[in-house]
Order: sequence, then structure tokens, then C-alpha cells
Amino acid sequence: MKTIIKNISQIIQTERKNTLFVYGKNMQKLNVINDGFIEISNGIITNFGNMSNWNGIEDWNNIKIIDAEGGSVFPSYCDSHTHLVFAETREKEFVDRIKGLSYQQIAKQGGGILNSARKLEKLSEEELYDKAKKNINKIIETGTGAVEIKSGYGLSTDSEIKMLRVIKKLKQTSDITIKSTFLGAHAIPEKYESNRNQYINLIINEMLPIIADENLADFIDVFCEKNYFTVEETIKILNAGKKYKLQAKTHVNQFNAIGGVKASVDSGALSVDHLEILMKEDIISLKESKCMPTALPSCSFFLGLPYSPVRELINNSLPVAIASDYNPGSSPSGNMNFILSLACIKLKMTPEEAINAATINSAYAMGVEKDLGSIDIGKRANLFITKEIPNYDYLPYSFGENLIRTKILNGKVQK
Ligand code: NIG
Ligand code: FE
Repeated sequence: MKTIIKNISQIIQTERKNTLFVYGKNMQKLNVINDGFIEISNGIITNFGNMSNWNGIEDWNNIKIIDAEGGSVFPSYCDSHTHLVFAETREKEFVDRIKGLSYQQIAKQGGGILNSARKLEKLSEEELYDKAKKNINKIIETGTGAVEIKSGYGLSTDSEIKMLRVIKKLKQTSDITIKSTFLGAHAIPEKYESNRNQYINLIINEMLPIIADENLADFIDVFCEKNYFTVEETIKILNAGKKYKLQAKTHVNQFNAIGGVKASVDSGALSVDHLEILMKEDIISLKESKCMPTALPSCSFFLGLPYSPVRELINNSLPVAIASDYNPGSSPSGNMNFILSLACIKLKMTPEEAINAATINSAYAMGVEKDLGSIDIGKRANLFITKEIPNYDYLPYSFGENLIRTKILNGKVQK
């Protein structure tokens, strides 16, 4: 089956095929084709360009024509950091924060991650899958075509495995590309508070072997932060993951810089995420690596935290990715259009930088840059068509407006 998209005002983010990621000044560059067409066969982009270069149709059998009606086409967003498998939303904590409690105070009182873990324990795998599937459908609706999903609301062997099995099932039943991350080290469960080593040993000796055996994860993550996991514990857990070929993608520098960036980079991490706090030595570590610094601006927005100083990263010739951090506690939205607006407004990224950060760079941050993150021949046809917009700046500018008209995943229009 061949599909042709015609009448495209602009095709955004092309000719990135052999690019791992873009960094520094190159983040300013975005390739655009005016008055374009795109051809898709069996879910793969087979041709694209300006209408004047279109060869027309030789065989009218098995052809589907999509009229973009003067809209623009973007590669689907790659959301390289989410926790979208969860049991319940946490709006009570949201109200508590409005009344003056901090995220850390709420966590100390048994809210936060431990609250989510208590709720998740009670759900069956099927119930959890049904809830997560709804979240997947929501992010497809807002233009996401690849998503990384973490465990970490289980915090026991049974519940962590339950979460990861749900993610595996989502992979099998969705057109969206999914990568799975084991985040057993998201918090120390209450019953191990006085013996944290026992929990860390459980992660290493009990959870990881099952995960490897059932092929349940692509990556491993640790929340390296005061009151969560120390640098030494982080290194120990990441090393254990490495033995099972799980590359690291870590939570670092959300509230405090305690050395998590260097520890992650030294462990060969693919990305370091959050970075609300950034030290000179973090930049030095990153410059010696191919690790993708990833900002999560909606977490800063929602919790009222400082925003990651990404300009410093870009000025130091580093790349930046952006992701939603979709989770019930610190970012209850997976809408990447809003992340794009926040990147421009709060991180002071230009639209070109923000679009690169949410496509090719975030694709790299979840290991899918060969297949996704740009509109190129041979890449997967995960795209969205906008309503008529004057230019691509309008997408982040017009925050809160739904500009996406058609979503295409694996070449198929999503209903
Ligand atoms: O990335 N920082 C750690 N984990 C999540 C929040 C988890 C939660 O509050 O439920 C984050 O922000
Ligand atoms: Fe997170």
C-alpha cells in the first residue's frame, strides 16, 4: 500500500538521515521544503520533496491520497522521558502545594512516589494496562510518535515486573514506538527505610535477572538525588544494569547537584534528565561524552522549580533534548506541543532549537534516531499534519491551541 501526502505548505525537519543529534549552533538549523509531497510505502518514507520534483503516479492501484490542505508536516514528537503507566492521578498533592507545601514535604509525609506505589500495588496488570493505554491514546492525539516509559511506581519485585509487562504489552498493541526503562531505583520503599541496602540488593539480585530473562527493559534509570539514591548507590545500580546490557538514562540534578551527571556519563549513559541545577563540572563531563542532556520544562512549570539553564549547554556546543516527564506527580501532561512552547518561552530556545530538541535529539535520547526524529527516505512514517499555519514559529507561539489535524503512525492515519 502506497500513501501520498500532497498539498503540503511546508515539510519541516528533513535531511537528517545520518545525523545522531544536533548540538551547539547547529541546533539553529532546521531544513524546510516548501510546497511539498511525501510518499510512504509499507510504513516507511520512500520519497519527499517539492511538488515540482514529483514524478506522479504510475500505478493507481492500492494508492491512498492524503490532502494536507495547505497544512505543514512535522515528524512526530519523540518523548524520551515519561512515567505514563500509573494507577491514579495526584491532584490532592497539587492542591497541597498551592496551599504552601513543597514537593519534598509532601514526599516526606508519604505522598509523592510512595503514594503512587501504594495505589499501583492494588491494580491488576489488566487494569493498569487499560489506564496506560488511555494515556498512550492521549499522547498520540497531541502528535507524539515515540515514547520512552519508565517503571518506578512498583518498588517491589511483583509491582515493578507488573509495570514492565504492561509496557511490553503496550509495545505490542500500539502503532507508536515505545522504549521501556527499568526505574526500580525511583525511591526507597517505606519498609526498607532503615535498611536501604536490602532494597538495592533486591533491585540487583532479584528484579534485574527477571527483567533480563523476560526482556522487559531497554534502559535502566536511577533517581540520583538527596533523600533518594546517592551517587555511590547510583553507580552500583547502573553497573548492575550494564551486565544485562541495559544502558543508563538517569534522573539527575532536579533539586541538588550531587555528582549524578558525572556518575551517569562515566557509566555510559545515553541521557541525563532534569538538570534544573547545573554546575560547571557537569558541563565538563557532558562535553567529553555522547550523552544527551534532557530538559523537562513542564516539571519546572508544574512544581515551580527553576528551569534548566539550557542556553549554557548550547553555548558550550552541547546538544539538548526536551521531553514531557508525563507522570501524576510532577508533570501530569504528555502534550509535547506545550513542552515546545515552554522550551521557547522559559528555556529561551528558538523554535528551531526547540523543534530539534523534541525530534532528532529526543529520538537519540531514546535510541531511535535511525528510524525516527526527521522526515527522511528510509525512516518510519510517523508524522503529523497541522492545520494551515503561517510558519513553524506559530506552533510554539500559539500555546494551548490544538493545531494538529492528522496523525500518521507507521504510515497509517490514526483515528
Ligand atoms: O521525573 N523525579 C523523579 N521522578 C518523577 C516524579 C515522580 C512523581 O512525583 O511521581 C520526575 O519528576
Ligand atoms: Fe521523570
